[in-house]
Amino acid sequence: MMDWLELERACLSCQKCALADTRHNVVFGVGARDAEVMFIGEGPGENEDLQGEPFVGRAGKLLDDMLELIDLDRTKNVYIANIVKCRPPQNRDPLNTEQDACIGYLRNQVALIRPKIIVCLGRIAAMRLIKPDFKISKEHGQWFEKAGVHMTAILHPAAILRDPRRRPETFEDLKKLQAKIREVCTHTY
Ligand code: URA
Repeated sequence: MMDWLELERACLSCQKCALADTRHNVVFGVGARDAEVMFIGEGPGENEDLQGEPFVGRAGKLLDDMLELIDLDRTKNVYIANIVKCRPPQNRDPLNTEQDACIGYLRNQVALIRPKIIVCLGRIAAMRLIKPDFKISKEHGQWFEKAGVHMTAILHPAAILRDPRRRPETFEDLKKLQAKIREVCTHTY
């Protein structure tokens, strides 16, 4: 396992897959390295690729609003990362081969942070981190436990922007997340 300095240096110079050839920036992750709650998306979009930070576009603004609703803040008490750290061209889903090449970096981040709770943002992250047959529409908001870590998935903020009728179910999921944080976290609130 690498420490933070080694890990970030390895990511920033990574050439393990073809996404390295088209990226402007590696999107390593953002937030508190002692966070008890991690949020994990699928991969950078255009704005993230240009700025080198996760969730900074329109979906990112919505994510920040969702966090604020339950007193979370990317600069204070959560850590945000993605399954793949480089932008897939035209925002296509990251290929399995690309996820395989990249996932070790995320696993190393999880090992360093040792979160109590991992929240997958959308289907791709949930299928990779919770179970391969995860059904996001049916199983969002349900809780799973893996290696002592409480895991759940909520709808991806970009999916809510495409279909605002799905906001209420996400609001319910966020309230359940807040209750879980109160139950298992010691220094988030
Ligand atoms: N969507 C994601 O899954 N991750 C980001 O960082 C931005 C948009």
